[in-house]
Amino acid sequence: MNSLDVRTKFLSFFQQRGHTVVPSASLIPAGDPTLLFVNAGMVPFKDVFLGKDERSYSRATSVQRCLRVSGKHNDLEEIGPSPQHQTFFEMLGNFSFGDYFKAEALEFSWEFLTKDMGLPGEQLHPTVYVEDDESAKIWAKIKSVPERQIVRLGADENFWSMGDTGPCGPNSEIIFDRTGECRRDGSDCPITCDCDRWWELWNNVFMQYDRAADGTLTALPKKGVDTGMGLERLTAVLQEVGSTYETDLFTPILAEIADLTGVTYERATDAQRTALRILADHARATAFLIADGIRPSNEGRGYVLRRIMRRAIYYGRSRLISTDYLRPLVRRVGGLMSDVYPELHQAATALVTTAEEEEEKFIQTLGRGTAAVEALADSAQALRQTFRTAAEDPQAKFNWASRAISLADLHFRDSRLPETLKELFLEQYQSVLGAEPWNSTPEALRHAAAIEPTLNGEIAFFFKDTYGIPPDLTARVAEEHGLRVDLRGFEEALDEQRQRGREALGEARVQHEAMQAALAGLPPTTFLGYETLACDARVLGVLADGTRITEAGEARAIELVLDRTPFYAEGGGQAGDRGRISGTGFEIAVAGVRSANGVFVHSGTLTSGRIVEGDSARAEVDEDARRATMRNHTATHLLHKALRVVLGPEARQAGSLVAPDRLRFDFLHTRPLSDDELRETERIVREQVMLDRPVRTDVLPAQDAIASGADAMFDEKYGEEARVVAVGNGDVFSKELCGGTHCHATGEVGAFFIVDQRSVGAGVRRIEAVTGDNAYRWMDARRAIVEQLAREHNVPAEELPDRIHALEERAKEQPKVAVSNLPDPAQLIERAQRLGDNGALLIVDRVDAADADALRDFGDELRRRAGSAAVVLGTVIEDKPSIVVMLTPDQVQAGLDAAFIAKQLGREMGAGGGGRPDIATAGGREPSSLDAALAKAREILTAPAS
Ligand code: SER
Repeated sequence: MNSLDVRTKFLSFFQQRGHTVVPSASLIPAGDPTLLFVNAGMVPFKDVFLGKDERSYSRATSVQRCLRVSGKHNDLEEIGPSPQHQTFFEMLGNFSFGDYFKAEALEFSWEFLTKDMGLPGEQLHPTVYVEDDESAKIWAKIKSVPERQIVRLGADENFWSMGDTGPCGPNSEIIFDRTGECRRDGSDCPITCDCDRWWELWNNVFMQYDRAADGTLTALPKKGVDTGMGLERLTAVLQEVGSTYETDLFTPILAEIADLTGVTYERATDAQRTALRILADHARATAFLIADGIRPSNEGRGYVLRRIMRRAIYYGRSRLISTDYLRPLVRRVGGLMSDVYPELHQAATALVTTAEEEEEKFIQTLGRGTAAVEALADSAQALRQTFRTAAEDPQAKFNWASRAISLADLHFRDSRLPETLKELFLEQYQSVLGAEPWNSTPEALRHAAAIEPTLNGEIAFFFKDTYGIPPDLTARVAEEHGLRVDLRGFEEALDEQRQRGREALGEARVQHEAMQAALAGLPPTTFLGYETLACDARVLGVLADGTRITEAGEARAIELVLDRTPFYAEGGGQAGDRGRISGTGFEIAVAGVRSANGVFVHSGTLTSGRIVEGDSARAEVDEDARRATMRNHTATHLLHKALRVVLGPEARQAGSLVAPDRLRFDFLHTRPLSDDELRETERIVREQVMLDRPVRTDVLPAQDAIASGADAMFDEKYGEEARVVAVGNGDVFSKELCGGTHCHATGEVGAFFIVDQRSVGAGVRRIEAVTGDNAYRWMDARRAIVEQLAREHNVPAEELPDRIHALEERAKEQPKVAVSNLPDPAQLIERAQRLGDNGALLIVDRVDAADADALRDFGDELRRRAGSAAVVLGTVIEDKPSIVVMLTPDQVQAGLDAAFIAKQLGREMGAGGGGRPDIATAGGREPSSLDAALAKAREILTAPAS
């Protein structure tokens, strides 16, 4: 039986038993801040289990794409070593929402496996939660279940939760006995043995509780059933192979890898097989994440995708051969699975370009990272040698130790290492040498010389975090260069980062829950804002600082809940409305509105009077702002469609912001748009505006709406019913699922200009545009600029380009004015020598200054920053060497004389010099004499005082 048959048979089994077949949702959970990815078949139904959402059916079945790479269910590290784990997998599931419970669920699963799939009952072992007598009894009643096979286990095995919060409950699993004996020692090992004899096939979860962040369990309003069975494992059992990777779901991908590398799954060594599994698994995860709109980046979901892609590339290149893997593999996955998942087909080009770009980028990074490790290794060697010499020659320790640090610095500068890396690396020596390395004792120097060259945990973490290089790779490269890597320290650094992440997430959750608690008992608000901008309402709740209060006085920030409202609550990219809510004796300026599970919270300031729960009120939306928002929202739909006409169907929406003053639209596209593409996009939008086409809204079953071709956003939450906004009658120009407020006809948009385009991450671009009055204002401002320029240049506007061009040509003919190219003063100070023992600096440097003033100003800046210093700067001005000598007052007092020094330096350069005791200059004839003069300066200033 191939995997396609398994999918079909599963769905039809449950369809025949009254279940509605629900298509797989995207991997991105809609409107759920607690989860990065859909990690189980039940996730799209989470709110139905929690009683917050309703469906027309109470039984459902699906094959849901899932990803387990973060949070509570994370299998990433298993991939490779394990023959039966996947990050990306398909979960077969059946669900009951307050309909059937344990008995039917367990009977269904037993019947499907033993009858429809023909698996022998003796090899199937049910497990139940230790306290769940009811399930144990149900299993015992099913005739073909051998009683001795029913095992009771604790919460670790038989209590399932979606995440740290959310729906959960006891479960009953069906475990498949693959071999009849322990695969290690042939004994009759228990069901919990990890010898790969036992495969968990099916999990029946009895959804009974909602877990809060503090761990408390609240009973759900209605009990439910959530079952899940990995398609890959069931297929492996049916195809009688020892690993999910040997099923027809994976063999074509592995064949592709064998074509690329010459290594087959059967003949591979263990190390190679690990890489093969990683490549095959990660190629699937990569393809589906890209198809669901994620692009590699350094945060959130994008970062997870990047890690997965880089992990695959790294294993491929280090264990198989150095070749490009991702592009051919994601293409293969697309070809293999797009019949079942048309999303893959639609994203075909994006799959290939994204994979290719990331692979190229990573290979470069890998090169940079390797070079960094090499530079650190060289520095470690140089440092060790220098400290050793310095320890043996205490007389010269000043020179040696400071040279050592600057030596390291030299290596660093050559390899252009990031500052953080330098600091982390030098820290281990500096802590031994003390705050003043040049004053360190011979013992300290010997100690520093003996430090085993190590990249500590933080450095390894830096490599991972910045370059995306996994620690084991850093360790391998480092080892080749004689450096040890502290992998335990790495784990600690990683833990710290995770902890920080958890704390941040925890805080968001606490706030979210506090708001939920404050709103408890308030009914969902009736929204009238599609039809009207003002209505009478009743005040149901008054809140301040997120806490429910019954009344409020004085000028303060408050939040208000009404029974009905014309105010749009922020959502679907559209900003919340602003306006005013007033009543007898009070007035509130509303600045924003958001919805918490359908309860609209109006936030604003009580500008006068006193408000009490139960008051009547008049709610009025700011009409100008709302109309401007409507123009922007309708224009956003037109823009979305126009971009897809101009760039192709893959230019899908990736995010948007619709506010009164502007619209911002993010979409998937890898290149900047050319001027022609921008103008054509604008032209299409304007054409629709001028045609003044009707904008219609309809409420339809979501599935019908999507089937009719309406565009949907991947991380928006849609109920069973969806609102469809269509532009045009009959010949429809655009059709999207959207809850926002729109113009009645496109003509109201008035005017449309794209004002900016830029990249916002790999493969995602952003366009900003203006409409209506804002568009006219934007255009007026441009017109004013043109008119001003025309006046200043005294030519008609049409002649401005020629005029400016002519001016530029003339400017080119003018002789070049010298410009300074001065270094960062902080760097000069950092590498400065010490002048004697009291901390004064000796800064002698050759710089690139445009003229004598620039040189002097720069010297002044150095002198000011250093506090106590002798500064000698040389440069070449109009082909002549020039030097400035500057001293801080304490140095003058200590007996140094700038004029005296300048005179000697001038002589060195074949001319003269002089000035004041604190500032003096010297000149010369030949630029070539400058370096000798600077060396002379150093000699003069470091000579022991006689
Ligand atoms: N949610 C359960 C699981 O993922 C059953 O579907 O195992």
